[in-house]
Amino acid sequence: MGRKVLVTGGTGYIGSHTVVELQSVGFEVVIIDDLSNSSADVVDHIEKISGIRPAFEAFNLLDTDRLDAFFEQYAGIEAIIHFAAFKAVGESVEQPLAYYRNNLVSLMNILDCMSKYKVPNLVFSSSCTVYGQPDQLPVTENTPKKEAESPYGNTKAISEEVLRDVVKVNPDFKVIALRYFNPIGAHPSSLIGELPRGVPNNLVPFITQTAAGIRQQLSVFGDDYDTPDGSCIRDYINVVDLAKAHVVAINRLINNANSERYEFFNVGTGNGASVLEVVNTFEKATGVKLNYKIVARRPGDIEKIYADTTIANTVLGWKAETSLSDTLLSAWNWEKRIRNIN
Ligand code: UD1
Repeated sequence: MGRKVLVTGGTGYIGSHTVVELQSVGFEVVIIDDLSNSSADVVDHIEKISGIRPAFEAFNLLDTDRLDAFFEQYAGIEAIIHFAAFKAVGESVEQPLAYYRNNLVSLMNILDCMSKYKVPNLVFSSSCTVYGQPDQLPVTENTPKKEAESPYGNTKAISEEVLRDVVKVNPDFKVIALRYFNPIGAHPSSLIGELPRGVPNNLVPFITQTAAGIRQQLSVFGDDYDTPDGSCIRDYINVVDLAKAHVVAINRLINNANSERYEFFNVGTGNGASVLEVVNTFEKATGVKLNYKIVARRPGDIEKIYADTTIANTVLGWKAETSLSDTLLSAWNWEKRIRNIN
């Protein structure tokens, strides 16, 4: 048996890809997910890819009785990767309390369990949203944080502060927060990928659903930004590359006795791509023409952001490898599989 890792949110988009990567290097994975934004079939698909069925418990992390029962049952967990959280920016504006409760209290419950059940290591899903619209690009880990644009973004900013303070007074704890840029794409097997409920908010699922004929037209939100083609710029990171960053982080926590006990890293490619570049690259990679039109800016959007990945590259020894073109093709292959398109 490999070393045991708990992955909360392990049937979700980034979580499921991370479970597969952990299994591929010998970790024994246990998943907790309340299935609020994913389906139990994902466990079958993970098993199809890796040949190993992860243990899976379906409950919400606010349920402390279930959490206690869980840690009694699964003794010997060495590390936790905590993905489980709500992540829809617009919804968080409508329902701030639900977001603060779910995202913050579940983290606190996990931290309580780390003390109680002697689990020293945690990897936390943070976001480049903590930088807001940075004054200088690319953003390094030391770029000043800005006030969050949404309750969702604020839960990530507050979580990082909670972790920093809790680590200070718990000499046994080690934590790595990974600040994701924009994760896109799907596993090369097309067995797992991003499955938004309802109308997608994010660019790439909207693109693949438009290509599949589920959406009539993609709206490009604004072409009058201060960027070369006028559309917003982001750092789109392949989800499998991102998943691998978690494996590297877990290994660092377990094996590197000298690392700082609280660390945070940018996880991006280091390259910015505009919305129109993503559209063009998708068309070239897949041969599918996209019906799109330029519309007004989307309120709350950041003009441009991309990562300086020097610290992740040198300290973690991790680097994004997959091209934007291959990543967009993987997103399309996944959409085709789930829609039965040839
Ligand atoms: C958003 C959140 C971020 C969150 C991430 C994942 C904000 C400011 N940021 O990132 O905190 O972690 O989602 O859920 O809300 N676009 C279009 N047409 C579309 C959809 C998007 O043109 O139909 C454009 C957007 O204007 C943006 C880019 O595509 O320029 C990427 O948008 P999206 O995928 O929603 O991600 P972010 O807004 O960067």
